[in-house]
Amino acid sequence: MSKSTPQIDLPGPQLNRNSPTPLHQQVYLFIREAISDGRLKANYRLPATRVLAVDWGISRNVVLLAFEQLILEGYLCSKTGAGTHVAACRSDELPVRPTTKPSRPQPKQATLTTHSLLRQAADNLISGCSVDREIIRPFQLSVPSFRDFPFSIWSNLATQVYRGLHIQHLGYDDAAGYRPLREAIAEHVQINRAVRCTADQVVIVQGTQQALYLAGSLLLQPGDAFWMEDPGYQGAVACLRAVGGIPCPVPSGPGGFDLDYAREHHPHARVVYLTPSHQYPLGGTMPYPIRKRLLDWAAQHEGWIIEDDYDSELRYSGRPLPSLQGLDQAGRVIYVGTFSKTLFPALRIGYVILPDASTARLFTRAKALLDRQSPAVEQMILAKFIQEGHFLRHIRRMRQLYKTRQTWLLEALRTVPGLCHTSAPDAGMHLIAWLPDHLDDRTVSTELAARGVTAPPLSTYTLVHRQPPALLLGYSAFTQEQLETSVATLASVLQQAAG
Ligand SMILES: Cc1ncc(COP(=O)(O)O)c(C=O)c1O
Repeated sequence: MSKSTPQIDLPGPQLNRNSPTPLHQQVYLFIREAISDGRLKANYRLPATRVLAVDWGISRNVVLLAFEQLILEGYLCSKTGAGTHVAACRSDELPVRPTTKPSRPQPKQATLTTHSLLRQAADNLISGCSVDREIIRPFQLSVPSFRDFPFSIWSNLATQVYRGLHIQHLGYDDAAGYRPLREAIAEHVQINRAVRCTADQVVIVQGTQQALYLAGSLLLQPGDAFWMEDPGYQGAVACLRAVGGIPCPVPSGPGGFDLDYAREHHPHARVVYLTPSHQYPLGGTMPYPIRKRLLDWAAQHEGWIIEDDYDSELRYSGRPLPSLQGLDQAGRVIYVGTFSKTLFPALRIGYVILPDASTARLFTRAKALLDRQSPAVEQMILAKFIQEGHFLRHIRRMRQLYKTRQTWLLEALRTVPGLCHTSAPDAGMHLIAWLPDHLDDRTVSTELAARGVTAPPLSTYTLVHRQPPALLLGYSAFTQEQLETSVATLASVLQQAAG
């Protein structure tokens, strides 16, 4: 081997001229691989590009392009007059490359060892983060019937919005949200939820979850107690815990929220999270006398009520019940609404209605700190959707559909031996199937999951006050056949459990 024209000490690359990977890329990968696995050592001087081109039967340009890339990435270095060498760095300093055969120990995985409040609260939240979109199976909860969503209307509106976008829509907007949407929501909740407000009190957020996080951050200092329905919505406990709140579970079984218990056992709490129109997950409605007493408590003790009105528009008989906010004379209620149940959760649009415009401005500043503003275009589409009457029409259709599906499920459940009874409220997207006392609802739920049926156990929604065993059965997204097949699986699991 002459010094001026060193031979590359390797068999040539196997180039595939029919491959979609360009030739220069194949040469680059070949040399990079040889350097990384040590076949080409540091300081090794590579043959001249024209020599390699001849040896490998390719054009010199191909080699030049590959060299250029390798020099750029630090695998090779080139000095005028001295040719091109393999870079003189240690092998473990070489740029990382994807490989299927690890030739050296992999770096240790970093672990997040902090125990921040957010970390602890997030660890406690057992569901809601990793959802397999492909598998929506009965009796999954809180899933609207996506197939019945009027996508053609939505996409027409989206096209109109995009066509009409002005330059100024691309900049930052008011962090409180797109004004026409706030106006449309204010009008809608006044008429349909008896909420008393103007658009100045409405702040658009990315769903209930963000509303609760912001409300909790503003209302609670670390260590402050808050009353929490038990059983209740885990997403709420997690948010309020994350900002330092200490949950004080208040029995909220079929008898409703036990205000006397709350006042006696946790007298220091000044914040309460409630789902008064449709208790989550049991489905009851808070009677007027308790509403009145709660509002009096809040007014007298400077307490705050966070009213989560997540699905009360999906009511099947009579008119939706008026909100707690509408009865509040002292400005102590923070009302939270969402489009996750009435439209679809991926929209990530919810709203908070504050007692007055100045509290709304404070809330808006907190929202701006968190994420500056919610995405504008979706807000514009939704505003049109509401203004043109599609929203109300869709809700009316879904009410009928879900009512029918609830009836199908109830009828199928009637044939299941060993099931105690069912509670099917006149609203919502799921019902409760109570199990015999000797059964463990988690075990039944696990057995059902193994057979392809999702039915969360009630016990995972309780904090301390135990409830009889029960399963939550969602029906809104499923056909009669799906519901009946899954009920048959439930029957067989219960039969097996009975021995
Ligand atoms: C009680 C309750 N509130 C609110 C929501 C909706 O949350 P988001 O608006 O963040 O999607 C849910 C979702 O399941 C819920 O169960």
